[in-house]
Amino acid sequence: MPEKILLVEDEEKLRRLLQLVLSDAGYEVKTASDGGSAVRCWKEWQPSLVLTDLKMEPLDGLHVLRYGQDHNVDIPCIILTAYGTVEAAVEAMKNGAFDFLTKPVDHVQLLEVVKQGLEAGQFKTHHSGELLGSSDVMQEIRDEISMLAATDSAVLILGESGTGKELMARAIHRTSLKRKNGPFVRLNCASIPLDLLESELFGHKKGSFTGATTDHDGAFIRADGGILFLDEIGDLPLALQPKLLHAVEEKEILPLGANKPQPVSLKILSSTNLDLQEMVRRKEFRMDLFYRLNTIQVTLPPLRERGNDVEELATAFLSFFTREFGFPDTALSNDALHVMRTYSWPGNVRELRNVMERAVLKCQGKEIVPDCISTILPETTVKHCDDSTPCLDLVAKEQELLLTALKQNNWNKTKAARELNISRSALRYRIKKYGISKS
Ligand SMILES: Nc1ncnc2c1ncn2[C@@H]1O[C@H](COP(=O)(O)OP(=O)(O)OP(=O)(O)O)[C@@H](O)[C@H]1O
Ligand SMILES: [Mg+2]
Repeated sequence: MPEKILLVEDEEKLRRLLQLVLSDAGYEVKTASDGGSAVRCWKEWQPSLVLTDLKMEPLDGLHVLRYGQDHNVDIPCIILTAYGTVEAAVEAMKNGAFDFLTKPVDHVQLLEVVKQGLEAGQFKTHHSGELLGSSDVMQEIRDEISMLAATDSAVLILGESGTGKELMARAIHRTSLKRKNGPFVRLNCASIPLDLLESELFGHKKGSFTGATTDHDGAFIRADGGILFLDEIGDLPLALQPKLLHAVEEKEILPLGANKPQPVSLKILSSTNLDLQEMVRRKEFRMDLFYRLNTIQVTLPPLRERGNDVEELATAFLSFFTREFGFPDTALSNDALHVMRTYSWPGNVRELRNVMERAVLKCQGKEIVPDCISTILPETTVKHCDDSTPCLDLVAKEQELLLTALKQNNWNKTKAARELNISRSALRYRIKKYGISKS
């Protein structure tokens, strides 16, 4: 069966030309001329890849991209962009586009990128989404997922960074009979600038503030019928918490500039690696909202408490990356496994995954021996510097500063970021990069 490609382009001549190039290469192609008809076609026809122009009226390429993201349909989207609008394409990349091509489109390059996209897509569908691990605690978590998916109660997912909170939220969506055909919308409360967060959550009407040139659907509306995943909920500013509480309790929202509330039907999942209960005590998080979001609580255990899962996950990531990089099948030596079993994995599964990726590259597809990983694993996650051992190591110094700022601010990332004079997302990035955690 030929692979199915959805081509979205408003300029008729170019659309016909590209359709011809792609069908000549053996693909089955359907076309659309704007974001709205593209999404309709996507829903009905279920293509394996989407190739979309960015600037279209009335609904643009970002609308198409968002549909894929919100509905958890992890197929590659390639963006076509005119010369001079590369910035917009970069924005699209940030929103999950697989790659972009500039116009005029080079046909050889087009076919190459499409081929790569399809390969990446096949790879993803075989591997994405599954919560691996046979330890008792992970089996319990998997049992809990079916139970959680069967109700509409709010679920708070806790756990250290990299333990799989987002993966779990997506698994609840996939398992929920009532919600799985509806969207899965993730909103990261930590990465959106404060002044935009309200509109990202609840939407706005045209003209409701300077720069609001069109109506905008917020996450609540986009998630209607499905699941809204509020990631990093501990970073939600206090000022927005009453409005969120109202939306969760009353199942209705009031977009900025609207005069009438809009009903919504969705299940709310939220997640954080902060100690929300402690934040409630310190009056940094509203108690009433905490109880609303926390109807059911699940805590994902750190990797170091999952016994043999380290081995199972390492082997799974190993075969994933050897295939991805095109190396022959590779084994993990017993000595290498021993090093991994005794390491504490402060960055949890994410860190293990990254380490395996780098080890595969470093050992070029040969057996993974301790040498492949010992230089990748930090000896201790955070080095401490004192007067007797002056710290001239920039990386260690940075880690030290991050840790000090976090501790001084009781792990409140907003405050720590302010003190370090960096954005909250820059701070989060560094916390992840160095696998810094509270324990
Ligand atoms: N049990 C698991 N099986 C397979 N992959 C996993 C598992 N848990 C986590 N991962 C992988 O580890 C990475 C981190 O997972 P995820 O983003 O869900 O963690 P998180 O708890 O949301 O982290 P953070 O708090 O930093 O946002 C992802 O690449 C995910 O696919
Ligand atoms: Mg996460």
